Amino acid sequence: MARVFSGIQPSGELHIGNYLGAVQNWVTLQHQHDCLFCVVDLHAITQPYDVSSLAQRTIEMAIGLLAVGLDPERAIVFVQSHVPEHSELNWLLNTVTPLGELERQTQFKDKAQRHDSIPAGLLNYPVLQAADVLLYRATLVPVGEDQLQHLELMREIARRWNTRFAEGAGFTLPEPQALLATAKRVLGLDGRAKMSKSLGNTIGLFDTPETIWEKLKPAATDPARVTRKDPGNPEICNIFTIHQGFSPPATQQQVAHNCRTAGWGCLDCKRVLADNMIATLTPLRERAQELRAEPGRVREILRAAATKARALARATLARVRQCMGLLEGAEA
Ligand code: TRP
Repeated sequence: MARVFSGIQPSGELHIGNYLGAVQNWVTLQHQHDCLFCVVDLHAITQPYDVSSLAQRTIEMAIGLLAVGLDPERAIVFVQSHVPEHSELNWLLNTVTPLGELERQTQFKDKAQRHDSIPAGLLNYPVLQAADVLLYRATLVPVGEDQLQHLELMREIARRWNTRFAEGAGFTLPEPQALLATAKRVLGLDGRAKMSKSLGNTIGLFDTPETIWEKLKPAATDPARVTRKDPGNPEICNIFTIHQGFSPPATQQQVAHNCRTAGWGCLDCKRVLADNMIATLTPLRERAQELRAEPGRVREILRAAATKARALARATLARVRQCMGLLEGAEA
């Protein structure tokens, strides 16, 4: 069985973009592979963040992952900082990571612009990401397109480490492959930027039916459709993309037809979408509520998962240390 690793930042809110673009697929993958899914709090602290809410956002993200159907019996769902080996491997991999490649990462260049003084952690973000995956010798990494550059660098880091240290040791760090999300990317309700909590353009996965409708009503559609009589183009309508995630195929066809012929106004289309979203999301919201009412249970799930992850992580790290010539004795 292939091993799968992916991570998500503890933004505090799982939204429908995360769900359709990533997490829904994770739920499927847990039935096919040996999976680890990680709330990457150590990545989250590379950007300015609210210290007082980090722990709460972390547990809320874990609750979200469990509520959508990740099963602790099948997949290891854990918090990155609970497994300190991520940080240790990060350091070891820093020694084979080319600085030029880090500086070339588009995400680094974008995020660096927001700082007067760029923290080194922001530059090293992709090295920690490589450590996340290589620590478990995972070979499949489900990600969105925006992570492909990080994945390429991760492969380069594995290659360099192998060239320098694995030779003759009978132990290698396998080069992981991206497992690209097939779903079309959902934009934010503004119809412009990607859906993201920090942009305030999301529909939360656990929003109430009232909130879902309140947010859908004013959401951007095909910009060329100005009046009720204008025919629309579902291909360029973000609301149609969301239909593709929540409405059955027959409804999608009906929606597309009524959009192209101006048979429906955008509000009619949104009402159908709201109903389908609410039907899908209500059980998930209820499960999240149950888990929130049992914080002790969630913590216990995370603790047990971290213990499992740590056992795997330590086995890899022992070999990595050995290959790199470090003096034994760290087990003590
Ligand atoms: N950088 C990823 C993102 O922002 C999150 C992440 C951290 C990740 N570590 C990972 C994804 C390891 C895949 C594998 O989406």
